[in-house]
Amino acid sequence: MAKTRTMHHCTSCGASASRWQGRCPGCGEWNTLVEQRVVRRSGGSGEPGPWGGGELGPPVAITEVDTEDRPAVPTGLSEVDRVLGGGVVPGSVTVLGGEPGIGKSTLLLQVAASMARPDQPGGPQRVLYVSAEESLAQVRHRADRLGATVDGVWVVSEGSVGRVGDLVDELGCDLVLVDSIQAVSTAESSSAPGSVTQVRDCAFQLVAEARRTGVAVVVAGHVTKDGALAGPRVLEHVVDTVLAFEGDRHGELRLLRAVKHRFGSTSEVGVMAMGEDGLLPVADPSGLFLADRRAGVPGSAVAAVLEGRRPLLVEVQALVSGSPSPSVRRQAQGLDAGRLAMLVAVLERHVGLCDLGRADLHALAVGGVRLSEPGVDLAVALALASAVTDRPLPPRLAAFGEVGLTGEVRGVGRTADRVAEAHRLGFTQVLGPAVARSGADLAPPTGGPAVDSGSPGMTGVRTLAEALEAAGVAPGA
Ligand code: TYD
Ligand code: MG
Repeated sequence: MAKTRTMHHCTSCGASASRWQGRCPGCGEWNTLVEQRVVRRSGGSGEPGPWGGGELGPPVAITEVDTEDRPAVPTGLSEVDRVLGGGVVPGSVTVLGGEPGIGKSTLLLQVAASMARPDQPGGPQRVLYVSAEESLAQVRHRADRLGATVDGVWVVSEGSVGRVGDLVDELGCDLVLVDSIQAVSTAESSSAPGSVTQVRDCAFQLVAEARRTGVAVVVAGHVTKDGALAGPRVLEHVVDTVLAFEGDRHGELRLLRAVKHRFGSTSEVGVMAMGEDGLLPVADPSGLFLADRRAGVPGSAVAAVLEGRRPLLVEVQALVSGSPSPSVRRQAQGLDAGRLAMLVAVLERHVGLCDLGRADLHALAVGGVRLSEPGVDLAVALALASAVTDRPLPPRLAAFGEVGLTGEVRGVGRTADRVAEAHRLGFTQVLGPAVARSGADLAPPTGGPAVDSGSPGMTGVRTLAEALEAAGVAPGA
């Protein structure tokens, strides 16, 4: 029997409440709860069942639980398989999130073609590509351009998730690609496509279909400028894997990383370049990041950062200009705005770079990457100091290290890997923390902090002032 009742969902975070409230209990936003009718069938939980079946079964003794693994099927695209830790897992749902125009549809189509190929390592897969945004002709045009017009890939222009489930049964697919979650809808939900409740209900239904049929599902999802999945953060909780596809839409570099991964680590990063023939793996990411760099200009520094487990060299740039108005502009692109403000304060207070706090400043990570690792601090500070003093940094200098509030340079992980990557690309002078992260704890109580002796070829610095001195951009030098 079907029962109807009313629920309230937050349009911002997707939290649900049984009664209307002015303020969302989930995210604290005001006036975001909207009413929604929910039809519940008796006998079912209404939400996706467990692995291997649609219904919740009876309790099982833990010693008797079947541990049969479902091996991942490789996509055949090296960077995607690297991030997924092997490939897509049958019966799982993956969301590929990214800004509009970043290349999600392109990547999905390439995955489709690669997995359907007869020589695919896991055997050719039957793939259904569900295009809810573009016409079949548009999909075919793109596939032709990508060399992705292969047997074994079916395309359908379909907006109904329920119909997708039927097609999976009819075609007996192994993989379903849905483009995009914002453009599909389910009859179970009465709100408009793209709305938080629709997106969430569609995701629930796709998870249920994946579990029921054992088909692997990959769904494209548009994200907003600040990187959140548009509207529904809640999607992250529903699906098994969330991949973020990032980069500068106007440049060619793309980073693929796992934000959530139920079947493996989230520390691998895939690097691809968008070219005429679609996305290709990048063998030497640092080389590509630095390709357009003009060495020897003030305001440019090279950071040895860690993306997942990979060391990467990325150029960071700063521009400082005098501000005639009392309100200063601070812009950070690809860098954390809060950390930028902190670095400005530290440079002013502890290094004596006067007037920096009253100047307009812009800082960015080149290539459209988002650097959230604190190890980028030292390079950002050097770029700022270089911009203020109008002196270029040595062209073969790279730097890494976290900067603390007292102007100290703190240790970060994987020093040796960063130094090795810098050397590989011809950076002969590497500035890094003199204090190793783990070594600091091991230092004898009487002596100073342990000096990182494990990284030959690196100049250890203890403070930001020391680093600026070593790089020739100290004020008044
Ligand atoms: P698309 O996959 O449509 O992005 P999304 O689905 O994330 O919105 O890719 C959009 C851009 O990629 C588009 O501006 C054109 C560019 N592009 C290439 O540069 N080379 C190619 O081979 C393809 C297919 C697209
Ligand atoms: Mg698209």
